[in-house]
Amino acid sequence: MQRLVNKRILLGVTGGIAAYKSADLVRRLQDAGAEVRVVMTQGACEFITPLTMQALSGHPVHTDLLDPRAEAAMGHIELARWADLVLIAPASANFLARLAYGHGNDLLSTLCLATGAPVAVAPAMNQQMWADPATQKNQLILQEKGVHIFGPGSGGQACGEVGPGRMQEPDEIIHQAADVFDYDLLTGRHVVITAGPTREPIDPVRYLTNKSSGKMGFALAAAAAEAGARVTLIAGPVVLDTPNRVERINVVRAEDMYQASLDAVEKGCDIFIATAAVADYRPTVTADHKIKKSTEEIHLTLVKNPDIIAAVADHANRPFTVGFAAETQDVIEYAQGKLKNKNLDMIATNDVSGTDVGFNSDNNALTVIWPNGHKVLPLASKTQIAKQLIELIAIRQG
Ligand code: PMT
Repeated sequence: MQRLVNKRILLGVTGGIAAYKSADLVRRLQDAGAEVRVVMTQGACEFITPLTMQALSGHPVHTDLLDPRAEAAMGHIELARWADLVLIAPASANFLARLAYGHGNDLLSTLCLATGAPVAVAPAMNQQMWADPATQKNQLILQEKGVHIFGPGSGGQACGEVGPGRMQEPDEIIHQAADVFDYDLLTGRHVVITAGPTREPIDPVRYLTNKSSGKMGFALAAAAAEAGARVTLIAGPVVLDTPNRVERINVVRAEDMYQASLDAVEKGCDIFIATAAVADYRPTVTADHKIKKSTEEIHLTLVKNPDIIAAVADHANRPFTVGFAAETQDVIEYAQGKLKNKNLDMIATNDVSGTDVGFNSDNNALTVIWPNGHKVLPLASKTQIAKQLIELIAIRQG
C-alpha cells in the first residue's frame, strides 16, 4: 500500500453499529504507513468510545466544534488543512444528507466544508434506508461534488435484514483510499515474479526440494501490486495466501516454472523478478511407483534443469530482468558472476549462511547490484525490503 505511506488521513466516524470496524481501520491505515487523526460525531460516541480510538491512533480524538482544549492543540481549520484525505467510515444516512447539503452543524461536517483535501465516505445503514430515494439522491449529489463513495457492501445486516448497506471491510476501504492517490511507481507495468521452491519428483511420494518458503517473492508481488503494477506470480509449492490484486500461477517442477515464465514473457511483460529457489537438478527418471526399500544403496541420476532467468534474459522480447542470489560465502563475487553470466539487469543477493535472513525467515537483508552500481538494503522485514527493492527497480527500469 505504498500510496498511503506518509499520507495524513482524517478518519471521521459517525453513529452506526459499523463504528466498531473503524477501530480496525485505524490500525490498518497505520500499518499501510498513513498517519491517522480521528474525529467522532456524538452519535459515533454512543457506539465506540473516543478513548478506544485515541489509544489506537495515538492522538487525541476530536469530538466538538467548540472545544477550547482541542482547538488549542489543533484547531478545526488546521485539522482540515492537515488532511490529505478525509475518510468518513462509517457514514450514516444522516451524515450523507448533511454532507450533500453543505451543513456545518458539528465538527465533522464543518471539517468537510473547510478542507481542500479529497473526501471519501463509506456508507453504512439499513438496506431500506440506503434504497430510500432521499439517500440515493444524496449520494448522487455527493458524487457530483467529487466525493468518493466506497461501497456499500451487500449481505446480512446487524438488524437482521439482507441487502446493500453494509460498510465495506477495512481492507476494501484501504484499497480504495489508496486509489484516491495516483502516485504509482509501476502504473501500467506488467511484473512477473517467480517465488518459492520447486519440487522435483523421485517417485509418486518423494521429491527433491529446498527450504524456500516463498515469503520474499510474495512480499515482492504485494509491493509491486501496491505500486500499481499488474502482477503475475508464478509460485512453487508454498502455503501462503495470494496477495491482493495479484494473478497467481501455481507450479511444482522447475520445468513447469520455466514454461509458465516463458509463456508470460512471450505474451509481454516489462519486469521479470526471479526470487524462486529453483532446483538446479532433477532426477533423470521419475519412478511410476513408490521405490521399494531393498538394496543397501540406491543411486539417483540427476540432470540439469533449464535456467529460467537466463532464458528470459535471452528472449527477443526481453523484460527488465532481476535475479536473486542466495550465497553462503563470497556473496558479492558470486552475485556479480551471476549478473554477468545470466545477462541480468540487476541482482539482489542475500547471505544465507545464518538463519535470521533469507530462506524461510520473515526478515531479509540484500545487496542489490547492477552493472555500474549497487545499493545495500539493511536488515528489515521482507515486506519492507520488498517495497525498497520495487522502488529501486522502478527507478532503474526508468
Ligand atoms: O522463499 P523465502 O523463504 O522467502 O527465501 C527467499 C530466498 C532466499 C529463496 C530468495 O531471497 C533468494 O535468494 N532466491 C534465489 C535463490 C537461489 O538459490 O538462487 P540461485 O543462486 O540458485 O539462482 C540465481 C538466480 O537464478 C535466481 O534468481 C534464481 O531464481 C534463478 N534460477 C536459478 C536456477 C534455474 N534453473 N533457473 C533460475 O531462474
